[in-house]
Amino acid sequence: MSTLPLEAARSHVGALVDELTVKGAIRTPQWAEAFASVPRHVFVPYWYEQETNDKGISQWRRRATATDADALAAVYRDETLVTALDPSTAEQVDENVWSGIPTSSSTLPSLMAGMLEDLSVEAGHRVLEIGTGTGYNAALLCARLGEHLVHSIDVDPALVQAAQKRLAEIEVETQLVAGDGQNGYPTGEQFDRIIATCSVPQIPAAWIEQTKPNGIIVADVSLGIEGGLVRLSVADEQQAVGHFTTNSGRFMPARSDAQNYPTRERPVYAAETGTHPTTVTAGDVRSNYPFRLVLALELPDAELVYHSADDGTMSLQLQLPDGSWARTPVVGPATVTYGGPDNLWDRVEDAWSWWNDARRPAQDQFGYARQPEGAARVWHISTGRRWNV
Ligand SMILES: C[S@@+](CC[C@H](N)C(=O)[O-])C[C@H]1O[C@@H](n2cnc3c(N)ncnc32)[C@H](O)[C@@H]1O
Repeated sequence: MSTLPLEAARSHVGALVDELTVKGAIRTPQWAEAFASVPRHVFVPYWYEQETNDKGISQWRRRATATDADALAAVYRDETLVTALDPSTAEQVDENVWSGIPTSSSTLPSLMAGMLEDLSVEAGHRVLEIGTGTGYNAALLCARLGEHLVHSIDVDPALVQAAQKRLAEIEVETQLVAGDGQNGYPTGEQFDRIIATCSVPQIPAAWIEQTKPNGIIVADVSLGIEGGLVRLSVADEQQAVGHFTTNSGRFMPARSDAQNYPTRERPVYAAETGTHPTTVTAGDVRSNYPFRLVLALELPDAELVYHSADDGTMSLQLQLPDGSWARTPVVGPATVTYGGPDNLWDRVEDAWSWWNDARRPAQDQFGYARQPEGAARVWHISTGRRWNV
């Protein structure tokens, strides 16, 4: 691996810190200092740019930061960069071009900064990160707290090894291990803070057990259609309680096996049943993140996908595992076309009415609680309306 000397990126690093501060993602001088001291390009020596080939198929062009000034500059922009493709599906299609499914990325720096600020670390705190990836976030934590207090785990041993080497390049040696972070850290020790950069369907029991009393967990909870970042405190070993945060951003799902990716079986779609006008358009669903969170709570088994008709019309489609579906065009009349036993869109309209009657609460108006056993709970803080998830 050849990386540029740190000096080569000094001005880029400063510009990134300024941008993240102006955006309000970095809120404290301590995190500004940490971001200013860690060169992101060391952790992202190459990344994959998405492009579409002449057959309309998505592929990935590898960009090396040591030899390509634009690629280096991109590393210091506030962008998520794909850094790994699944080796079992990735195929080289050209000199620097691969097909395949992304399996790791260097997270959007403003999202990372917002989550680190939400973690409210203090000197002396021991932190566990789930999802080492490139090692950049682990390096930031080390810069803020000291290498002996930071632990990180990734399901992919190759990523852990690469991250270890990159940390060594900036003379940091911290505790990295390979394994399924959903089971916590293998030694079973407790931490003051846990931060996860892969999403989980609910906060795993092991994280609650491995958080010290009054410790904090910041993680992305995936609820189907939508999900979001939660900030929880663990008052004792029994319960993690808190709320969704306004720091919006989503992560790739946690997987239990480095080489295996969760896939969802597509149902056999029901025949079309009818079309009628609707009060909730695709634009309403697309542009209101907290409303999608409510939809996810109301329709836990549903999926939201884009449907492309033979005539090229794009629609937003809601579908259930039983094959029922309802779709409304992304551009065009406020109508819904549906099929199957369940007229799904009625439930979308009911959820829309509730969310509007409740004065369009943002996601931080929703609490989240999880005990090590059983379902997690989400509730709307001011009305107390609740869902088990
Ligand atoms: C968005 S990347 C993490 C970015 C990383 N924090 C960084 O600074 O580059 C998500 C990572 O989660 C890892 N991951 C997925 N499932 C996991 C699991 N069960 N336990 C630990 N890591 C997991 C992936 O391999 C991937 O590297």
